[in-house]
Amino acid sequence: MTDKPKVLVARKTFDDVVERLRAHFEVESNEADEVWSQDQLIERLQGMSGVYITGSEKIDARLLDACPGLRAVCTMAVGYNNIDVPACSARGVLVSNAPDVLTETTADFGFALMMATARRITESEHFLRRGEWRKWSYDMFAGSDVHGATLAILGMGRIGQAIARRGHLGFGMPVIYHNRSQLAPEIAAPLGAQWVEKDELLRRADHLLIVVPYSPAAHHMVGERELALMKPSATLTNIARGGVVDDAALARALAAGTIAAAGLDVFEGEPQVHAGLLAARNVVLTPHIASASIPTRRAMSHLAVDNLIAALSGGTPPTALNPEVLNRSPA
Ligand code: GLV
Repeated sequence: MTDKPKVLVARKTFDDVVERLRAHFEVESNEADEVWSQDQLIERLQGMSGVYITGSEKIDARLLDACPGLRAVCTMAVGYNNIDVPACSARGVLVSNAPDVLTETTADFGFALMMATARRITESEHFLRRGEWRKWSYDMFAGSDVHGATLAILGMGRIGQAIARRGHLGFGMPVIYHNRSQLAPEIAAPLGAQWVEKDELLRRADHLLIVVPYSPAAHHMVGERELALMKPSATLTNIARGGVVDDAALARALAAGTIAAAGLDVFEGEPQVHAGLLAARNVVLTPHIASASIPTRRAMSHLAVDNLIAALSGGTPPTALNPEVLNRSPA
């Protein structure tokens, strides 16, 4: 029906997710999965009431002013640093993200990346694939232990807590964390988690896990000064967002032996990766896939659709970031 609201699916997703939208809306979907510039996105959003996005599309005042019909912006990511939420709120545009459904999957990945980094999994695999494995030797790819080592978590939200639980209960790790706010004692105690100042966290870490959401205040939260505080035997794993770590400073620290190794799923300016990181032997690199299990990616996509349907049909979006806009009468 032509009087259905129109929505844009800005990046390719599961077919049944798009089908669900088609039951409610006139849908245009980026089936070719092209990466559009903001101008191309603006062009495609003309006449649209809602948009399904990922962590890649930039939604700011410029776009909103050029797309005055837009009422809902629903991302299938949990992070929403690509969306100017106050600018959306000021124009009565509902914004939602996709929290909770990815917590355990992302924590699994963070832990796996940390383990791969500590135990030099990819470095040794590359050696084997290159045909260089001629004999066993006592220190071949000897790394650091995970069990019993100090797990230091920077950012203690849902994902940080899920990682702490794995470390404390499964691997007997002492857990320290730094976060703006401290956990309530009844939440911290079962995780064995102790709050410390950021510098102390860095000094005591055997394995540093970075899980803090990106915001301008978190920009280069771990840079040259912070890396210099860490033990030369320590590892750093970043599953948060590019920009929280200063990648150039990290590449220098890895080359200089300031820390032992890094596991990185996110990068400044991705999908570009700093040349110094690509060249480093002691770094495990993955292309921003921490939440990428099939069930979880499905759940994230469906949650974005739940939000889009509710927002444009007079319902209550389950994970709105600015639900107050729904109570406002249109200007
Ligand atoms: C992934 O990085 C997300 O924010 O969901």
